[in-house]
Amino acid sequence: MDTFSYTAKDDRYEQIPYKRCGNSGIMLPSISLGLWHNFGFDTTFQNIRNIIHTAFDNGITHFDLANNYGTPYGSAEENFGHIMKHDLKKYRDELLISSKAGYEMWAGPYGNFGSRKYMISSCDQSLKRLNLDYVDIFYSHRPDPDTPIEETMQALDYIVRSGRAMYAGISNYNPEQTKEAISVLKSLGTPCLIHQTKYSMFNRTPEEGLLDVLEEEKVGAIAFSPLAQGLLTDRYLNGIPKNSRIDKPNPFLTKNSISEEVLAKVNSLNKIAKNRNQSLAQMSISWLLKDKRISSVLVGASSSKQLKNNLQSLDNLTFSLEELSAIDEILKS
Ligand SMILES: NC(=O)c1ccc[n+]([C@@H]2O[C@H](COP(=O)([O-])OP(=O)(O)OC[C@H]3O[C@@H](n4cnc5c(N)ncnc54)[C@H](OP(=O)(O)O)[C@@H]3O)[C@@H](O)[C@H]2O)c1
Repeated sequence: MDTFSYTAKDDRYEQIPYKRCGNSGIMLPSISLGLWHNFGFDTTFQNIRNIIHTAFDNGITHFDLANNYGTPYGSAEENFGHIMKHDLKKYRDELLISSKAGYEMWAGPYGNFGSRKYMISSCDQSLKRLNLDYVDIFYSHRPDPDTPIEETMQALDYIVRSGRAMYAGISNYNPEQTKEAISVLKSLGTPCLIHQTKYSMFNRTPEEGLLDVLEEEKVGAIAFSPLAQGLLTDRYLNGIPKNSRIDKPNPFLTKNSISEEVLAKVNSLNKIAKNRNQSLAQMSISWLLKDKRISSVLVGASSSKQLKNNLQSLDNLTFSLEELSAIDEILKS
């Protein structure tokens, strides 16, 4: 690791709009950066550092992590923790850093799902790896079918009250579970700040009730995997590039994900994007941001170049009715 000497660009807050997260006091950058893939020990540290600097220099204040991000688990938090300590320490109060617990993290009955034991221990582990005294948002990463929702929400409430996190969030909860979680958190006096949900042109499930619940409850929504992990970009239009997410060993996106049918849709969407003078990645992000209920779009990136490309989506956020219905037709086909 080299000697760290990073100074953020002075004009960073002129680059990107900020949107209110539900009815909270928090403003989120329209685009946030997620560290699920490409930030672990299997990635060059300098590349990680470049992407994070590019993000902050362009006004991205929100960095999203989880206990199990990176290969091996925990390594994305450790890498971010190094950058936090050496580059970003002086900017701590300008940053909104989140982590989560909910998926398998360590062996045995206490390293998964939503028990109080797991949630609080995992949060403590994350803080050590991140070199932080507190995270800004701590999430229940997924609902636990066997632990009472009250126990998981009480753990989040405790995490906030004990100063380990400033806000509580939930992720991957369906509309009914979301209503219940929001209500329990409200009764405990720790409101739910945000719901992190998978949402893209290829996955419109949140339109089937979740976004309505969040609007009614005035809770923010942040959309993850907006590019369907890279499918909704030009990445796979001419085959599978070396070192792409599909090329790497990865159970979440495989060769089977790019069927003829998917490729045909991607090609048609790409044509609409070109007519809008956007890359497909840019149009995919703009398409989500057109909905006022989306507080932020949480992108991933394997290079600074990709991130810069994605940031340009903010130059064209409006869609004509013709464009929207053409997109709907392609997605339905
Ligand atoms: N709460 C949850 O359960 C959950 C689950 C999943 C993700 N998340 C969060 O959401 C974040 C984003 O998820 P994601 O990484 O799946 O998001 P994504 O934005 O849908 O996909 C990111 C991938 O798309 C490709 N890409 C990005 N910009 C591109 C561009 N301009 N041109 C071409 N290709 C481009 C890159 O693939 P290559 O690597 O091939 O270059 C990149 O790794 C995660 O980091 C995490 O914070 C949360």
